[in-house]
Amino acid sequence: MTDFRKSTVYQIYPRSFYDTNGDGFGDLRGVTAKLDYIKELGVDYIWMTPFFVSPQYDNGYDVEDYYNIDPRYGTMEDFEELSREAEKRGIKLMLDMVFNHTSSNHEWFQKALAGDEKYKNFYIFKKGKEDGSAPTNWESKFGGNAWEYVPEMDEYYLHLFHVKQPDLNWDNPEVREEVKKIVRFWMNKGVKGFRFDVVNLISKDKYEDDYEGDGRRFYTDGPNIHKYLKELNEGSFGQDAEIITVGEMSSTSMENCFGYAGADSNELSMVFSFHHLKVDFMGNEKWVLVPVDFMKLKNILFDWQVGMSENNAWNAVFWCNHDQPRPVSRFGDEEKYWKESAKMLATLVHGLRGTPYIYQGEELGMTNTDFTKIDQFKDVESLNYYEILQQKGLSKEDALRIIQIHSRDNGRTPVQWNSEEHGGFTTGTPWIEVNNNYKKVNAESQIHDEASIFSYYKKLVQLRKEVDVIAYGDIKPLDAKHPSVFAYERTYENEKLIVVCNFYKNEVVWDSKMNLEGYETLLSNYSEQNIENGKITLKPYEAIMLHLQ
Ligand code: NOJ
Repeated sequence: MTDFRKSTVYQIYPRSFYDTNGDGFGDLRGVTAKLDYIKELGVDYIWMTPFFVSPQYDNGYDVEDYYNIDPRYGTMEDFEELSREAEKRGIKLMLDMVFNHTSSNHEWFQKALAGDEKYKNFYIFKKGKEDGSAPTNWESKFGGNAWEYVPEMDEYYLHLFHVKQPDLNWDNPEVREEVKKIVRFWMNKGVKGFRFDVVNLISKDKYEDDYEGDGRRFYTDGPNIHKYLKELNEGSFGQDAEIITVGEMSSTSMENCFGYAGADSNELSMVFSFHHLKVDFMGNEKWVLVPVDFMKLKNILFDWQVGMSENNAWNAVFWCNHDQPRPVSRFGDEEKYWKESAKMLATLVHGLRGTPYIYQGEELGMTNTDFTKIDQFKDVESLNYYEILQQKGLSKEDALRIIQIHSRDNGRTPVQWNSEEHGGFTTGTPWIEVNNNYKKVNAESQIHDEASIFSYYKKLVQLRKEVDVIAYGDIKPLDAKHPSVFAYERTYENEKLIVVCNFYKNEVVWDSKMNLEGYETLLSNYSEQNIENGKITLKPYEAIMLHLQ
């Protein structure tokens, strides 16, 4: 059985991964074609974002039919081939299940709109207020009010995301049965992992106006959430001990995550939480320009690491995914110290306690988009906020600058495979433009280069398998108040690991206040280290893993 503590997951956003038929849109065959590359990286699982039938208003997170593959991505035969080929290489597939909402094209919703009471109860329909306005003032995550009026019914339905993504009513047991059935269907196809999209939003609490925020406190980590997850576990993936699961937890609390991902809670194997990726926000407000707050980043990561460890719960650890900017652009230096900073960030995250997730292209040091015009952006959230920001009084230029920094499209430009046109992603016209730096940043130039970012990730994946303290050790922050160094110690039985990262470009002498004799350098992004009497002189973005056994 795969031990998920020794495993690494590689995330694929299929539409931007590799296109085999020249339509400019990545496909399942594209994933199959690149399995040897993924195998070379050494990861255990591939998480693929949704490729089910969908009108694609939110790039597949609006599912119309959970049992079939969207023709843009291929066919069920393509999926089965991918599954077989992955298995041959010892790689397991993790599917992305979107159950907080469906697409408005889903037949359940269509029946609901047609007046079928059974299916109306699959969703959340409410009467408006006395003056006819929306039932509550909750905001959609993509901007605007979260309720949509249906004149024929004189009722509103809830959509926490896009208006084409109506929220499911999990308080209806029939919905919960349908969801289990879908998971079992994919289990029968040999799927060994599931990621559950925004799954901590499925249990809504009171439908009241929120005078303190955007409504999230009424639907986040709601009253029945643990009950529903235990039920889903028991009625589906919990029946196969080999399956691993990860829940995407939006604005969650750590206390709830002790339950979601507790070793004995029979809910999920692990959780994604996002607090550490809001350190360049203003509170929850993402559409602002605020520099990264390093101390905040450290405090959040350390709190979660220690808290989850003490409560025997498991984290997914990561810097990015298809909703996030590229880490080397966000936290590192994509110019002068591109390689060093990409490797430093990798060391920091892969040394933590938890299962690391690598997002496609991260292992190549891919950077944010270089888009200069709004029409190069495709993401519905970015386009909505471009308008909203201008309605708030920002100029077009200022709105664009904010979109350039925070847009989800930063992580969605095609994977850069080689130095050919469109980075070798497609022979057609890509659905979103490739970053112009593909001649410098691409897979072909890195796979055989020992000093590349790719080779460094490969070593990290391997080390987690070989070195028990990385997989099993507990964690202690070191010098938590240091303004530029991120350091921690992991301990497992007699083994110790010290990870020290210089988060900035200025050289710094870090005093470990420890006797480091006997420690060997397991990995570093520089060929030589300067360690004397417990003091380490760290070069720009230098990262070191020291090991004692
Ligand atoms: C989280 C997904 O990662 C994101 O891409 C999507 O837009 C929302 N959930 C809604 O499904």
